[in-house]
Amino acid sequence: MKLLVLHGPSLDKLGTREPEIYGSLSLGEINAQLEETARQRGAELTILQSNHEGVLADAILSARENGNRGILMNPAAYSHTSIALLDAIRACGLPVVEVHLSNIHAREEFRRHSYTAMGAVGVVTGFGVDSYIAGLHLLSARIQQLDARD
Ligand code: DQA
Repeated sequence: MKLLVLHGPSLDKLGTREPEIYGSLSLGEINAQLEETARQRGAELTILQSNHEGVLADAILSARENGNRGILMNPAAYSHTSIALLDAIRACGLPVVEVHLSNIHAREEFRRHSYTAMGAVGVVTGFGVDSYIAGLHLLSARIQQLDARD
């Protein structure tokens, strides 16, 4: 099962970026944990981080034709601003699980709304790296459920 993992803007700075909010793990360390979880579930990951909305939109829109079965995504600040990414999610034809390291509902008012979440199967928020790990399990379980129905 091929899955796409997308990390949005400034997540390349994890480890040094506001560690009191986002923790001390680097993006590389988070990706290593995701790779280990994927191995346990028999999934194969393609992982991309970008600070550019269009790059993320292109990745979402081409995910299916590239053989992916689902998308695990932390859209970062674009969650709160990007109708373009919401439309791409709705157009891509794949289940998308949104994750956030911090609890977006316990922070500034502007973080409480996520456009991208409106197109997602669900959201895991506030558990640090475990948001990603749980999100990957939930995405893979959802795809297995969809396959069993077919
Ligand atoms: C974030 C939360 C967003 O509000 C913020 O803009 C980020 C990271 C998180 O993982 O907690 O960049 O998506």
